[in-house]
Amino acid sequence: MYASLLAALSVPALAIAQTVVTVTDRVCVVEPCPNGGDAAPAIIEAFELCGHNEEPSRGKVVFLNETYNIRSVMNTTGLKNVDIDLNGLLLWDTNIPYWLNHSLPVGYQNQSSAWLFGGDNISWDGHGYGTLNGSGVACPGRPHQITITGTKDSTFSGIRFVDSQMWTMTVIHSDSILLEDIYVNSTNIQPVGFDFSSLNTDGADTVYANNITFRRWTVSNGDDSIAMKGNSTNILIEDCDFYEGLGVAIGSIGQYDGVFETIENVTARNIRSYNMRYGAYVKTWTGVSSGYPPNGGGGGLGYAANITFSDFILHNNTGIYAVTQCTSYNSASGNCDTSKFNLHDIRLQNWTGTAVSDVVSAIQCSAASPCTGQEIVGIDILDTVNGTAPSQYLCDNVSPVGFNCTGPTWEENNR
Ligand SMILES: *[C@@H]1O[C@H](CO)[C@@H](O)[C@H](O)[C@H]1NC(C)=O
Ligand SMILES: *[C@@H]1O[C@H](CO)[C@@H](O)[C@H](O)[C@H]1NC(C)=O
Ligand SMILES: *[C@@H]1O[C@H](CO)[C@@H](O)[C@H](O)[C@H]1NC(C)=O
Ligand SMILES: *[C@@H]1O[C@H](CO)[C@@H](O)[C@H](O)[C@H]1NC(C)=O
Ligand SMILES: *[C@@H]1O[C@H](CO)[C@@H](O)[C@H](O)[C@H]1NC(C)=O
Ligand SMILES: *[C@@H]1O[C@H](CO)[C@@H](O)[C@H](O)[C@H]1NC(C)=O
Ligand SMILES: *[C@@H]1O[C@H](CO)[C@@H](O)[C@H](O)[C@H]1NC(C)=O
Ligand SMILES: *[C@@H]1O[C@H](CO)[C@@H](O)[C@H](O)[C@H]1NC(C)=O
Ligand SMILES: *[C@@H]1O[C@H](CO)[C@@H](O)[C@H](O)[C@H]1NC(C)=O
Ligand SMILES: *[C@@H]1O[C@H](CO)[C@@H](O)[C@H](O)[C@H]1NC(C)=O
Ligand SMILES: *[C@@H]1O[C@H](CO)[C@@H](O)[C@H](O)[C@H]1NC(C)=O
Ligand SMILES: *[C@@H]1O[C@H](CO)[C@@H](O)[C@H](O)[C@H]1NC(C)=O
Repeated sequence: MYASLLAALSVPALAIAQTVVTVTDRVCVVEPCPNGGDAAPAIIEAFELCGHNEEPSRGKVVFLNETYNIRSVMNTTGLKNVDIDLNGLLLWDTNIPYWLNHSLPVGYQNQSSAWLFGGDNISWDGHGYGTLNGSGVACPGRPHQITITGTKDSTFSGIRFVDSQMWTMTVIHSDSILLEDIYVNSTNIQPVGFDFSSLNTDGADTVYANNITFRRWTVSNGDDSIAMKGNSTNILIEDCDFYEGLGVAIGSIGQYDGVFETIENVTARNIRSYNMRYGAYVKTWTGVSSGYPPNGGGGGLGYAANITFSDFILHNNTGIYAVTQCTSYNSASGNCDTSKFNLHDIRLQNWTGTAVSDVVSAIQCSAASPCTGQEIVGIDILDTVNGTAPSQYLCDNVSPVGFNCTGPTWEENNR
């Protein structure tokens, strides 16, 4: 804090203003600071000057094809009618003690963020090369790269996210957002390997979010490609390539004792999945509350319903589909039959490709709230280990549609 405070104090207000060039009263061009100085104050200033516009006027914030070093947190929320033209690189610095102390609250799971961003009628274009680089080294308590919060009727396209600090992007308290042609790659931090140790570098997470479309995403990250958490409704994920991560995730959810949350109307379709842990998976906390978020919890109520995973092509995945209601504090085990969070009308349709698994699905539902309407149809996958179709459908407390359960679940993927 000391160093960055000094840095902030040593930059006179005039110098901050000089790094934003106002071309007209509504177009702000952000100039990078000389000598790698903190660009955050100039970026905040640019959004203040050009990011709040009443219809029919629109403002514009332009980032040049340059590197902008970010050394402090940003809160640019409440924007209105603004276009963002990202031509360069936003590069976060690695002063971990600073970030651990100063990151901004996301409003979920005690998580925090390096940048709170949001507003109405925002259009952000990265042209396929504008990049946010978190200089990430997964470290407990590090902030999310960007939190899109309080945002409505907005589009984000052609943006690259590299080496996120933690979760890449959280979309929270937001409605009607399109995110397309997005590239996320957080794998060169440390080898992902095939133990799939979670790096906590999720591609995107939705929380308290409605009508969100993710189209043409490429994600390689060692964790959830895209995850739906509490109160995510009307979510479409389509035409995506997911590499070396855990899968499309529902949850985890049910972490807050006694709190009622839902996930409803989710479709993921035309997904290509490469060397992933699963194509898709569903995860709830147990019904027994132990510890507090982000690492503890349980006892949550609600349901996840009307979820369709269709037209997936798997390439060499280690697993195919799984459901667990066993999530608990610090990998504590047991209480798998206690969750009252209900899962119903979840469908897998038309999954093809290859996996190194003889198990199509391992669906562990809680006895306290069995799964109904779990459909699995149109599975044509090759188990490359013995050149056959995977034959196991493992179930606990499931009423199957289109398939028959072959036995109870066991410790997942015993290969
Ligand atoms: C972080 O905050 C703690 C407690 O307020 C303080 O002791 C520590 O010096 C701070 N570190 C930095 C790098 O700001
Ligand atoms: C950005 O600048 C670099 C050199 O600084 C150049 O190689 C690259 O082509 C430029 N990108 C675009 C899209 O103009
Ligand atoms: C971010 O800025 C908004 C005003 O736009 C303010 O209401 C909010 O409290 C700020 N959030 C944090 C965490 O500082
Ligand atoms: C949902 O969001 C899209 C933008 O992705 C928007 O075009 C559409 O109007 C929204 N639908 C509703 C019902 O608000
Ligand atoms: C992700 O980045 C690593 C390291 O730069 C690279 O080897 C890999 O090909 C990238 N993955 C994708 C899907 O682009
Ligand atoms: C989540 O959804 C439930 C059920 O619709 C609602 O009661 C609750 O207020 C919502 N919570 C938030 C924070 O949106
Ligand atoms: C789910 O979709 C149906 C059909 O579009 C709609 O009637 C219903 O309101 C949606 N549910 C939620 C929670 O938005
Ligand atoms: C289920 O969700 C899909 C969108 O994912 C929607 O089209 C459909 O109408 C919903 N069905 C019901 C019964 O709400
Ligand atoms: C099954 O999925 C594949 C791959 O996405 C697609 O090409 C094919 O059209 C789908 N088949 C049906 C019957 O929907
Ligand atoms: C398939 O996955 C295994 C690990 O399960 C890995 O060792 C192997 O390199 C992968 N093959 C290809 C072609 O990616
Ligand atoms: C394929 O391998 C699995 C696990 O090793 C085994 O249980 C299964 O019977 C094998 N299937 C065939 C048809 O050999
Ligand atoms: C499930 O088992 C029943 C009874 O043995 C059989 O009639 C039915 O065809 C099976 N369904 C599938 C999808 O294999």
